[in-house]
Amino acid sequence: TSLARIRNFAIIAHIDHGKSTLADRLIQFCGGLADREMKEQVLDSMDIERERGITIKAQTVRLEYPAKDGVTYVLNLMDTPGHVDFAYEVSRSLAACEGSLLVVDASQGVEAQTLANVYQALDAGHEIVPILNKVDLPAAEPERVKQQIEDVIGLPADDAVMISAKTGLNIEGVLEAIVTRLPAPTGDETKPLQALLVDSWYDPYLGVVILVRVKQGRLRRNMRIRLMAKGTAHPVNDIGVFTPKMQPVDDLGPGEMGYITAAMKTVADCNVGDTITDDRAPATEQLPGFRPSIPVVWCGLFPTDADEFEKLRESLGKLRLNDSSFHFDPESSAALGFGFRCGFLGLLHLEIVQERLSREFDLDLIATAPSVVYKLTKNNGDEIELHNPADMPDPSLVKSIQEPWIKATIFVPDEYLGSILALCSERRGVQVDLTYVGNRAMAVYRLPLNEVVFDFYDRLKSISRGYASFDYAVDGYEEGDLVKISILVNNEPVDALSFMAHRSAADRRARSICEKLKDLIPRQLFKIPIQAAIGGKVIARETIGAMSKDVTAKCYGGDISRKRKLLDKQKEGKKRMRQFGKVEIPQSAFIAALKMD
Ligand code: GTP
Repeated sequence: TSLARIRNFAIIAHIDHGKSTLADRLIQFCGGLADREMKEQVLDSMDIERERGITIKAQTVRLEYPAKDGVTYVLNLMDTPGHVDFAYEVSRSLAACEGSLLVVDASQGVEAQTLANVYQALDAGHEIVPILNKVDLPAAEPERVKQQIEDVIGLPADDAVMISAKTGLNIEGVLEAIVTRLPAPTGDETKPLQALLVDSWYDPYLGVVILVRVKQGRLRRNMRIRLMAKGTAHPVNDIGVFTPKMQPVDDLGPGEMGYITAAMKTVADCNVGDTITDDRAPATEQLPGFRPSIPVVWCGLFPTDADEFEKLRESLGKLRLNDSSFHFDPESSAALGFGFRCGFLGLLHLEIVQERLSREFDLDLIATAPSVVYKLTKNNGDEIELHNPADMPDPSLVKSIQEPWIKATIFVPDEYLGSILALCSERRGVQVDLTYVGNRAMAVYRLPLNEVVFDFYDRLKSISRGYASFDYAVDGYEEGDLVKISILVNNEPVDALSFMAHRSAADRRARSICEKLKDLIPRQLFKIPIQAAIGGKVIARETIGAMSKDVTAKCYGGDISRKRKLLDKQKEGKKRMRQFGKVEIPQSAFIAALKMD
């Protein structure tokens, strides 16, 4: 395909502004799928995504569009995730394109992730076409939102394309804007191959699948490719494009996007951002890689059944191939046995990985409390990174502890501003800026990440009845008065439940966890004290009363099947329990206990 006929673009938007719906419409318009194949939101291929209605993995589709100028263009569409946790995936999708469609909900206007995404697109050197979606809604105010795009983002919005992705209104207007307003890619096909490794994942049938964007040269079937950073070479099995079905092609030239399946033994070989070249005639230089993703939230994952440790290791390896922003290292816990310390981009990312492990790999897991990465300086000058509160050295040996801070941007309608500001200051936030855009406020705060990882986002949403939007970036480390709080169940410390907190919040959080555990841990035949302590000093305490009778005693009469059901149910519950000394703690207690408030 000649370069002038190619357009590579991403769709960027705040969550729920209609990105996936628009992508579906574009695919449908270009006839990529027959109507009966057109399941809603075809790009969101993972079940979890469809259920949660959010886009996790960036995906790509090749479309053919016969434009009004008589030329048939090849359009490569990259879908991008909208949630803050996945900013990294956005940046790597953008590196594979020359332009972006900026979708803004005409009834909502500019939100926190609209801004964050636009900045990333501008960083990637993109041409941007604003699209006002949902103009079918009675609450749509396209003129006001256009003005907002100009005022807040500083993008000309006069010729924004007005559409309804839902009804299909003016989808052709979007396609015309893509071919007339976005630039064609450049690249010399006679030069040695340079292709960007945009993404890779593990497919149970095909093995390792790599998504590439060719920058120069030509990628051919039967070629031997070399991963330049990694330094390994592999024969190519197959090359193709997504239409969105996988369709083999003979080669891919400059400006084109597609997939490679290659004979790779280890899944760890593919690093996103690596440059792929021809092993026989290699390029001399690598393409600029991606910003590496730095996990900001860590937690331990342990198999409920110790025999599943190897299976967990293998599954984590496969997941990592699919998701390079996810990290894991082996760890062992006195309470939980052997498992892995895993790093995530945020809490949603953590939840999704956990869910995928249980669904796709059928693993039954226990997750410990999420924690941020602290930097410790010991009295002897040693500096250590603390990924796990259980590893906290004796406080008398520690000179100082630094914690990560973030810079958060919050958009919120006027009427909820007061409660949002209160939430931020309760979480030790420091106001940086407060401005108004129409009847919405934009508050910029610096906050300790520790105060945000657990439930800040949920609280923000509930306080503002869903109207606040939030985006953040990590913004350095600062010293803080931080303490480790240990939890003791029946006088035994449960290492997996210990956590770090600011001293000013220690009492409140210790109390709330003890109260929670009291409700979460089932009664046993004896009394169980639950205590929270800093060092040797107990700062909160609850007691679970003893259970009086056998639970099956409830089923008086001779209904044996009911009795059996109850016992089966208990057995099912047992699988997700862990024994601590004489006490069993259900897995749900670990997660629930650490959600604050
Ligand atoms: P994420 O993938 O979660 O980032 O969201 P998204 O931006 O892809 O949004 P999605 O396409 O899932 O749309 C969000 C909601 O808005 C869905 O319920 C859509 O049906 C609805 N929606 C999308 N476009 C329109 C539109 O033009 N008009 C109306 N009324 N609703 C729309």
